[in-house]
Amino acid sequence: MLIWPIITIYIIILSLSSVELNTGSKCKVRKFPRGFMFGTATSAYQIEGAWNVDGKTENIWDHLSHTRPHLIKNGSNGDIADDSYNFYKRDVEMLRELGVDFYRFSMSWNRILPTSFPDKINKAGKLQELGGWANPYMVDWYADYARTLFELFGDRVKYWVTINEPHQVCHFGYGGTILAPALNIKGVAEYLCAKNLLLAHAKAYHIYDEEFRPDHKGLIFISLSAQWYEPLFRNQSEAAHDANQFEWEQYAHPIFSKTGDFPPAMKNRIATRSAEQGFFRSRLPEFTPYEIQLIKGSSDLFGLNHYFTQYVYRNKTLCGYYDSPSYEDDLAVIFKFLPEWTIGQSNFTKEYDNATVYITENGFATFGGLNDDDRVLYYTEYLSAMLDAMEEGSDVQAYTAWSLMDNYEWSYGYTEKFGLYEVDYSTPKRTRTPRKSAYVMRDIFQTHLLNRCRAHDMDVTMAIKKNED
Ligand SMILES: *[C@@H]1O[C@H](CO)[C@@H](O)[C@H](O)[C@H]1NC(C)=O
Ligand SMILES: *[C@@H]1O[C@H](CO)[C@@H](O)[C@H](O)[C@H]1NC(C)=O
Ligand SMILES: *[C@@H]1O[C@H](CO)[C@@H](O)[C@H](O)[C@H]1NC(C)=O
Ligand SMILES: *[C@@H]1O[C@H](CO)[C@@H](O)[C@H](O)[C@H]1NC(C)=O
Ligand SMILES: *[C@@H]1O[C@H](CO)[C@@H](O)[C@H](O)[C@H]1NC(C)=O
Repeated sequence: MLIWPIITIYIIILSLSSVELNTGSKCKVRKFPRGFMFGTATSAYQIEGAWNVDGKTENIWDHLSHTRPHLIKNGSNGDIADDSYNFYKRDVEMLRELGVDFYRFSMSWNRILPTSFPDKINKAGKLQELGGWANPYMVDWYADYARTLFELFGDRVKYWVTINEPHQVCHFGYGGTILAPALNIKGVAEYLCAKNLLLAHAKAYHIYDEEFRPDHKGLIFISLSAQWYEPLFRNQSEAAHDANQFEWEQYAHPIFSKTGDFPPAMKNRIATRSAEQGFFRSRLPEFTPYEIQLIKGSSDLFGLNHYFTQYVYRNKTLCGYYDSPSYEDDLAVIFKFLPEWTIGQSNFTKEYDNATVYITENGFATFGGLNDDDRVLYYTEYLSAMLDAMEEGSDVQAYTAWSLMDNYEWSYGYTEKFGLYEVDYSTPKRTRTPRKSAYVMRDIFQTHLLNRCRAHDMDVTMAIKKNED
């Protein structure tokens, strides 16, 4: 899952084309360490289709795309998507072609538990109608669902991601309309969601850790989509600090910091703003000391989805710039992309005690085409930056390309293409064809070597032509 304004795409192209063509160092062959794992990612709703087949019931995305299609580009939905429900064998073949070490996919709650609950006798309504992540009982329902999955698949699945991109789930789904359930209850619902989601994650973690890990010996963690925020001017370091706290440390600090709980600056800003607005208490709910302990340390490693860096600043006239109350108003910064691009250096290695990191998503959107040189440039530059971070001491052990193939990009419908494989939506078989990036990534996955010049110059015209015939 990922969501951001289309503008990103252009900016990244601009920034990378201004990268110095220092041929010497660019062509240096860089080696990934032994044991480093490469994979690709998808998610259930984005590829499966078969939305009402074999007992699967309606989920929040079926509901949103069927009842409020105007919120989605071209009004499209995931009813068929890539039809992986029927063509999953081709997907597995593609994973073999790429030579991945792993595949990150997701399970559809409503497919596995059509009533939403493990107790089939319970015919209660949909979880979203009961408030979804805003309802504190969601913590138990999620834990029940997680336990069911551990029981069903724990003997085979050795890496579990509890929740992918919690900030996007809560902020865009509860505080806005970009993701389902599109509640748009700003500055309130998204914070309730954050608290309950963190507790649900922690509960699932402890169930696995205590009851299943002794037998199954797997790893379990959360994946956060963390973009990096840099101050636009030197005197804007506080704005950048706050932006990082709100945008991803909101979820990282409770789990990975020594103290636990929501980040201090975030708590203070929301409490102050809430008081100014006449609320009797902070709109950011508090954790009890017991809950803080439950969440702290509840992830075996840091699953990191990363897409871009942005500048931020704040000035005195921001009052009234955003809706109030809202998350944007609480944070009160302006986000800005600049053509003079620099890649931010994340400090979380230090802040979070050198947590092991798996990159669980990284990728680049185009509007289609098999010769995707821009995507190749993006991947190879980011992999190179990742190797820089590893040389500086970051314990990164895995990298996941988003995405194996084009898919339903939530409110962007099928307009944005992230796939190593192109999917032809005009054919019933949803024919999948490797792009140039698929050949380049296969080369990297299999050799564990990165040569940015070679990647760029690789001529796959014949292979692509052969595949098209
Ligand atoms: C921050 O720095 C910018 C650029 O140097 C300057 O224009 C601005 O006035 C400064 N703001 C403050 C509050 O000092
Ligand atoms: C503050 O930023 C906003 C948004 O970019 C802008 O409209 C406004 O003019 C700025 N105010 C000052 C004093 O720079
Ligand atoms: C990152 O850490 C270094 C040293 O620990 C510090 O000087 C720098 O200001 C930090 N950067 C950010 C953006 O917090
Ligand atoms: C982080 O952990 C890795 C793996 O244990 C180690 O190689 C690296 O030196 C550590 N980095 C720092 C900054 O301590
Ligand atoms: C979306 O709609 C536009 C305008 O009708 C059309 O040109 C485009 O091909 C559609 N895109 C997709 C991915 O269906």
